[in-house]
Amino acid sequence: MSTLHLSRRVEGLIAGQATSDGAGVKLTRVLTQDLQRRLDPFLMLDAFGSDDPNDYIAGFPDHPHRGFETVTYMIAGRMLHRDSAGHEGLLESGGVQWMTAGRGVIHSEIPQQTDGVMEGFQLWLNLPGRDKMNAPWYRDFKAADLPRFVTTQGVTVIVIAGESQGVSGAVTRTASAPLYLDLHLPAGSSIEQTLALQHNAFVYVYRGEVRIAGQSVPTQRMAVLANGGPSDSVLIEASKDAKVLLLAGQPLKEPIAQYGPFVMNTQQEIHQAIQDFRDGTLGERVISP
Ligand code: CO
Repeated sequence: MSTLHLSRRVEGLIAGQATSDGAGVKLTRVLTQDLQRRLDPFLMLDAFGSDDPNDYIAGFPDHPHRGFETVTYMIAGRMLHRDSAGHEGLLESGGVQWMTAGRGVIHSEIPQQTDGVMEGFQLWLNLPGRDKMNAPWYRDFKAADLPRFVTTQGVTVIVIAGESQGVSGAVTRTASAPLYLDLHLPAGSSIEQTLALQHNAFVYVYRGEVRIAGQSVPTQRMAVLANGGPSDSVLIEASKDAKVLLLAGQPLKEPIAQYGPFVMNTQQEIHQAIQDFRDGTLGERVISP
């Protein structure tokens, strides 16, 4: 273990809330609305995973977004995305879809399977006020397109956003400066990741169990990492095989006004989003398959 860095400690463990969204997709909302200020610039993290098609088959038919970005990471399964900006993409196991809603998209996310496991995550990343009304942006990354490397200890690091040990991620953002890593740790391994002092950070364990700065974090728990002090990294150790998401970002420190799928700075902007959606000027509806 390096003595050059001091790991952040775990401030709290979060179990999340069981809920459903879209047309009845069962999921766990890991990062809930009450944590938006604490984990700014992140607004939401949903974890979905089931081998029962009744839990996912209806998917997410046409619905709008404005004012932030959605990042969907499929661990297993196939989902088809279509949106009002003309983007279409098939999201498959290990792939990432990054969508900047900006001033508005209407999209659908529909499973392309009738059985088997569907598992993954959807993250909502806020945009600064000056970018909320930008044009929509969209990219699909197949599993093979995501930057990845293996450490000397055998830890696989998939760099979805940000940078790890000199490897740049698939997506970079200036204002929120997100770090989004998927870490696969074999039993007995550890990894230390540098974190900017002022960034908010958390870890979600989706397989196995890890220790962070000595504290145990069990499976399906989010560990909020403490800010402040001289801690400029996080040390994650696995006594058995584990897989975790590590996220960090630059807080935007702006007011957050949310109404469902619209996240703006003021209530006035929320009313405008609702009006634009009703008027059909937020985006054209797409026909769900
Ligand atoms: Co959506």
